[in-house]
Amino acid sequence: MFLLRKTLSLLAVTSLTISTQLVAYAASFDGQYIQPNLTNTAVEWWWGSAVGTPESPGTPGPVLQFLFYQGYSVLADLNHSALPEYYITINGFFPNGTDFSLTVPATSGDISEGTGNAVTGTWGTVGAFRTSSDLKTMTVTFNASDAPYGISGSMKFTSNRENHYGCNVTDSPYFETSKPSQTLNETENVFFNQLGWAVTIPGGTVDVDVTINGTQLQFTGNGYHDQNWMPLALNEFISSWYFGFAEIGPYTLSYVSAAPLNSSIVFNTGYLSTNQAVLQNQCSITGSKTTDISIIRPTGEMAGAEGTVAPSGWTLSYVVDDGTEYEFKMVPTGVNPNMAVYQRWTGLISGGMKGEESYEGVATFEWLNPGLNVYSA
Ligand SMILES: *[C@@H]1O[C@H](CO)[C@@H](O)[C@H](O)[C@H]1NC(C)=O
Ligand SMILES: *[C@@H]1O[C@H](CO)[C@@H](O)[C@H](O)[C@H]1NC(C)=O
Ligand SMILES: *[C@@H]1O[C@H](CO)[C@@H](O)[C@H](O)[C@H]1NC(C)=O
Ligand SMILES: *[C@@H]1O[C@H](CO)[C@@H](O)[C@H](O)[C@H]1NC(C)=O
Ligand SMILES: *[C@@H]1O[C@H](CO)[C@@H](O)[C@H](O)[C@H]1NC(C)=O
Ligand SMILES: *[C@@H]1O[C@H](CO)[C@@H](O)[C@H](O)[C@H]1NC(C)=O
Ligand SMILES: *[C@@H]1O[C@H](CO)[C@@H](O)[C@H](O)[C@H]1NC(C)=O
Ligand SMILES: *[C@@H]1O[C@H](CO)[C@@H](O)[C@H](O)[C@H]1NC(C)=O
Repeated sequence: MFLLRKTLSLLAVTSLTISTQLVAYAASFDGQYIQPNLTNTAVEWWWGSAVGTPESPGTPGPVLQFLFYQGYSVLADLNHSALPEYYITINGFFPNGTDFSLTVPATSGDISEGTGNAVTGTWGTVGAFRTSSDLKTMTVTFNASDAPYGISGSMKFTSNRENHYGCNVTDSPYFETSKPSQTLNETENVFFNQLGWAVTIPGGTVDVDVTINGTQLQFTGNGYHDQNWMPLALNEFISSWYFGFAEIGPYTLSYVSAAPLNSSIVFNTGYLSTNQAVLQNQCSITGSKTTDISIIRPTGEMAGAEGTVAPSGWTLSYVVDDGTEYEFKMVPTGVNPNMAVYQRWTGLISGGMKGEESYEGVATFEWLNPGLNVYSA
């Protein structure tokens, strides 16, 4: 869901400078929600993921994940004029488990809206995406086959679920409905009122056919596409953030659990659906209720990035409104990117409704940790 450049080091956050003049509400669900440019710290990104079935046990399947960026999700300082404002990052795994990563700079990053919810994103000549007016399909193309980038080809997504915002609402992409009644700190204020999330393709399939440095990567996998935007970089208001999504048996799911910087609040959002119904689409503060909640718990220990300790697994629980419980276990098979401030795992997921049939599938789950919180089991 995020980019972090290895070359950037995090600086201590001093104080927040937030422009209130940034909001450009999109007319299309997948359109432009904020206006990042070189004179502000705003960032908006369109993210998509294709995860295939592993070729052999214990290895990640073929994976191709992209981010079309306007601005920076993590800033070393407030002067990123030396860096491109528009770029695409791509990470993944070949079927044999070997990883790849690349960043392709672009001369522009333009969003144009068509009829219905149709959106076209054009990143210079190096990449583009098109979301259909009914939000049921998206096509992504890469056109940077020359060295040093070496990627060309396409991804074709077909959604199997309705697009959604968090918090079971259709009129706001923010987490504001779940904010606590007390006066919010500055970081909490940004978190609840200005961090936007729109999930255009909660699940479905994706046909991948790209060439990476002369090697063809072709597979059909699980597809997911969302976007985020905010007036300043994540490291300026987030301490820790878990995010994941999967398709498993009849279920399509995603979750976020996040702690704003300098805050005692832990916020959660959970989405769980089948092709029959949305079982859950909630937002809540940890401890505020006992049903209509999602809980993500890291378990065990393993070596993480840059000498840190990372969880060796995760337990994801949903308690829906009527008290029915669902439980899933996720185990990593690969990690890319792999940095102390951001680890994105590909892995196996198993589970289902508690006490009922257990299913198996593939998942993506990540830990964004700008606060450099230390983990131990
Ligand atoms: C977080 O708290 C530290 C220590 O009190 C303070 O120096 C810093 O400015 C705070 N940061 C934000 C973004 O509120
Ligand atoms: C950049 O965005 C700011 C709002 O933050 C706006 O006032 C300014 O006109 C924009 N600049 C350009 C060059 O678009
Ligand atoms: C910002 O970066 C530009 C380009 O590298 C540089 O010319 C300028 O001096 C920098 N400004 C500050 C305040 O560091
Ligand atoms: C895995 O596949 C990639 C792409 O074909 C290749 O470059 C790499 O050498 C392979 N790795 C191993 C360990 O075979
Ligand atoms: C693809 O890249 C080539 C070489 O840079 C360029 O000539 C061409 O116009 C690009 N195609 C698109 C659709 O942007
Ligand atoms: C493609 O090859 C170039 C040159 O060897 C290298 O810099 C780049 O990292 C490679 N791209 C990928 C995605 O591995
Ligand atoms: C979610 O929203 C739908 C449509 O407004 C509503 O029927 C449903 O009861 C809501 N679910 C919960 C758990 O509030
Ligand atoms: C907001 O920050 C203050 C210190 O600046 C802290 O005492 C308080 O607990 C914070 N509020 C929450 C809800 O975390």
